[in-house]
Amino acid sequence: MDIEIADNSGYCFGVKRALKLARKALDENNARHKKVYTLGSIIHNPGVVQELSEKGLMSVKDIKDIEEGSVFVVRSHGMPPAILDELKKKNNIIIDATCPFVKKAHKRTKKLAADGFHIVLIGDNDHPEVCGIREQVDKSRISVINKIEDLASFDSKAKIGVVVQTTQTMEKLKVIACGLLDKTRELYVVNTICDTTKNRQDAVRELSGRVDIMLVAGGKNSANTTHLADISRQKNPNTFHIENKDDLLEDWFKNAGKVGISGGASTPEEDILAIRKKIEDMEL
Ligand code: F3S
Repeated sequence: MDIEIADNSGYCFGVKRALKLARKALDENNARHKKVYTLGSIIHNPGVVQELSEKGLMSVKDIKDIEEGSVFVVRSHGMPPAILDELKKKNNIIIDATCPFVKKAHKRTKKLAADGFHIVLIGDNDHPEVCGIREQVDKSRISVINKIEDLASFDSKAKIGVVVQTTQTMEKLKVIACGLLDKTRELYVVNTICDTTKNRQDAVRELSGRVDIMLVAGGKNSANTTHLADISRQKNPNTFHIENKDDLLEDWFKNAGKVGISGGASTPEEDILAIRKKIEDMEL
């Protein structure tokens, strides 16, 4: 069986940077008996979260559970400024691992608001990155839109500025931006989808169209991995979103000549290679 790994699979620059900063914070502070925290999992990958938790990284759901004077790592998704201010007031040391692409979305959102635009943020309202972007400006100045149907209840505005969650698809951006033309006479679109995401999605679109089975590896709670699986499914119904090699079923491969594999931005290369190895070792 022929197995091909899609280009641009696995850890993106922002995730690599966040993991490096978290590991450095643990190395430096474990010896000093200072606790190191994140709000939510450092990345959307259960295996990596487990490994770092064994090294002492504490993931909490509420900042009330963070001891005063500890170290706090901001995830690559970024955070609302008010929460960071609260943590600083309690003498916590902040290690900011916000991805520079997300920071750019924060900056452009604030600039659009300052220039008098009502902001439409395209993305998933509950995703931490979207919460971080949304909170950069007063809530009366920004609306989160996740699908074209959401525009039915969105009132017209004099000027609309658009920003996008970094891991969304170009297709969604195009559809919603076009829909917004009916809601304003002045529309300004800032495409904040990160290059890594776009390149990864293009590679999956291309590979999924010429394989029998397409595997997309990454956490089920990872937005970018879920989008990749959706993109692949449009080209290839035999697409499986798996978390790791343990999710593979031999039955899928019985009549397959060629298999494609891709991984989301939070998927370690070792996981992708382990998936390939397990398929190679199958006795079909
Ligand atoms: Fe940053 Fe893009 Fe990764 S926004 S965290 S490089 S998916």
